[in-house]
Amino acid sequence: MVKVFKVGLIGCGHIAETYFRAHKYFNNFKIIKCADINIKAAEKCASLYKIRALSVEDLLNDKEVEIILNLTVPKAHYDVTKKALLHNKHVYTEKPMAINVNDAKKLLQIAKKKNLYIGNAPDTFLGGGNQKSKQLLENNLIGKINLGNIIFAYPGVQSYHPNPEPWFAKKEGGPVIDMGPYYLTALVNLLGPAKQVWGSLMWNKKKRIIGIGPRKGKSIKVLCPTTYLGTIFFKNRTIIRFTLSFDVIAHHRNHIELYGSKGSILVPDPNMFGGSVFTCKKLGGAWKEHKTNKMYLGRINIREKSLRANEAPTNANYRGVGLSEMVYCIQNKKKHRCNGELSFHVLDIIKSIMEAARKRKRINIRSTCKIPKRFTSAEIKKILK
Ligand SMILES: NC(=O)c1ccc[n+]([C@@H]2O[C@H](COP(=O)([O-])OP(=O)(O)OC[C@H]3O[C@@H](n4cnc5c(N)ncnc54)[C@H](O)[C@@H]3O)[C@@H](O)[C@H]2O)c1
Repeated sequence: MVKVFKVGLIGCGHIAETYFRAHKYFNNFKIIKCADINIKAAEKCASLYKIRALSVEDLLNDKEVEIILNLTVPKAHYDVTKKALLHNKHVYTEKPMAINVNDAKKLLQIAKKKNLYIGNAPDTFLGGGNQKSKQLLENNLIGKINLGNIIFAYPGVQSYHPNPEPWFAKKEGGPVIDMGPYYLTALVNLLGPAKQVWGSLMWNKKKRIIGIGPRKGKSIKVLCPTTYLGTIFFKNRTIIRFTLSFDVIAHHRNHIELYGSKGSILVPDPNMFGGSVFTCKKLGGAWKEHKTNKMYLGRINIREKSLRANEAPTNANYRGVGLSEMVYCIQNKKKHRCNGELSFHVLDIIKSIMEAARKRKRINIRSTCKIPKRFTSAEIKKILK
């Protein structure tokens, strides 16, 4: 008999809907209560999903709640996660883990001392696209990966998010903190930990215009660089060039391309769960498609545009699987995949990229982490409804 863990949600904004949707797929957690510093947001969420809205303080003190799901804005992640741990709750937080490495380190220390689980998004690397890529690399299909390219580039979040300020804020804004977690977690899952970075930055416009919602047309200040270009050196000697930008109208490159000693691989969008992987083993040769749409976490589950404006109309989105896998590990006393050490290392790479670009010098990455094991169908089946 699977125990269903009772989850308390803090931060009832844009992304919350995706986690409620996860109830449809996973068998071991249920969001039963919610809270927000904006009580109206909590009440709206509670009435939509037929749960109870509490104050943040009352939710943290609620005896029924075993896990806090922290979906607040990045700059509040540290404070909310810390409070949750100090109230003896396990925590699963949206990305990034915190907005600076020292805060994230403190969270790891508190969780360790209190013997509590701390988990973090992104969990997209558990999806069919990244797991199929991992399987092909482990089977040595294209040999040792030597080089690669990643790109996330678009005009910015302001056109589709009603509250885009955090994406352009001084400390937690910019494309590396925002999209880096998806790309870097996917890369660490495939290549292992990173050891050094360097890069350059661009600060394009000083203002952006909100394109949606009640504040449509309002101008907001851009308080951070909006483009980063550079290089990541991995411990396994792979060198990856990256482009992360909120200043590109359109491009036609692949999200992640890795070049190995025996061939090349195109890894699908690390912000989503599905998509086909492509490999090519000869110059000018055909690209072989490796479909993921029959895999548990690669199957298309979104056929129409969802409430999230940036979600592709046809896609696989199983956000929440990281929380479910963590719950399974709590029950079975195992190490979870979306663990604190992995997200800490990813945050360390993010902050090092930003520092390297700002100081115009190479920065050594101080942290490391274990490479998560492949998420097998047998394991996924155990947490599916
Ligand atoms: N929006 C997306 O598509 C998306 C996708 C993936 C991940 N995320 C991540 O999810 C998190 C939330 O993003 P969002 O788009 O839902 O933001 P949002 O601004 O829509 O919602 C955040 C909510 O948190 C509340 N909040 C802020 N500080 C708080 C605090 N100290 N205590 C309690 N509540 C607090 C706000 O009032 C707001 O209701 C971010 O970390 C973001 O990086 C967002």
